[in-house]
Amino acid sequence: MDWGMKNRLAQLIKSDGHCLFMPIDHGYFQGPTRKLEKPGKTVEPLLPYCDALFVTRGVLRSSIDPKNSKPVILRVSGGTSMVGQDLANEGITTSIKEAIRLNVCAIGISIFVGSDYERQSLLNLSKLVDWGEDYGIPVMAVTAVGKELGKRDARYLSLCSRIAAELGARVVKTYWCENFEKVVDGCPVPVVMAGGPKVDTEHEVFDFVYDGIQKGAIGVNLGRNIWQNDHPVAMIKALRAIIHEGATANEANDLFEEVKKGGE
Ligand code: 5RP
Repeated sequence: MDWGMKNRLAQLIKSDGHCLFMPIDHGYFQGPTRKLEKPGKTVEPLLPYCDALFVTRGVLRSSIDPKNSKPVILRVSGGTSMVGQDLANEGITTSIKEAIRLNVCAIGISIFVGSDYERQSLLNLSKLVDWGEDYGIPVMAVTAVGKELGKRDARYLSLCSRIAAELGARVVKTYWCENFEKVVDGCPVPVVMAGGPKVDTEHEVFDFVYDGIQKGAIGVNLGRNIWQNDHPVAMIKALRAIIHEGATANEANDLFEEVKKGGE
């Protein structure tokens, strides 16, 4: 692996081998998502605690201070919306030149295995890997679950994750599920867990993140369950404790309550 590729990965994945990526890319298909209406304001108090931001070029340029940022994973797929025909019909939205201009540490793209656009999204990933490898930029593949594929089980997610790795992704983002070790064990590159829609209690998030880390995930790419929480700083601090400090789900919950009491 060349120096540039190694250096970019080292900025994203900390020396303990773990990472906390925070996605704020949701607007690229769902518009001004709740609590992300002003992305710059949303991320400001959270930036010190995340290891990287997953973001589109539009929000990066308009809302993130280049003098006070974190490593960037650039979302480079899109072209569809939640009111359109099919979310899976994505293309590559950003050139490799633009990714280099923005000095990003990785580029991220969704794949839609099992959808009508499976082949297209997998060939998009392959093309992006060719571009990324040419310039030492790692690709993170996002195993998106289209609306017709509600099932997030280990069989399906391990299929998607393995295919993404086979096509050259350096990191795979997928959902946590029961028997998550099957997903991690079948994937030869590091796996990070997505969050999904906001759940009812913080403890549920701590439980699945703890379980996933025990089963071999290197970290998370987790958005709404942080910044849609009424106490986002408490939430991200508690997640950091699990990911980087070996806290259990109960310890993380205690930390959440303590930070929350302090008013954050
Ligand atoms: C959308 C994405 C998001 O980055 C991903 O869903 C993570 O965010 P959240 O934790 O809010 O689900 O890739 O396709």
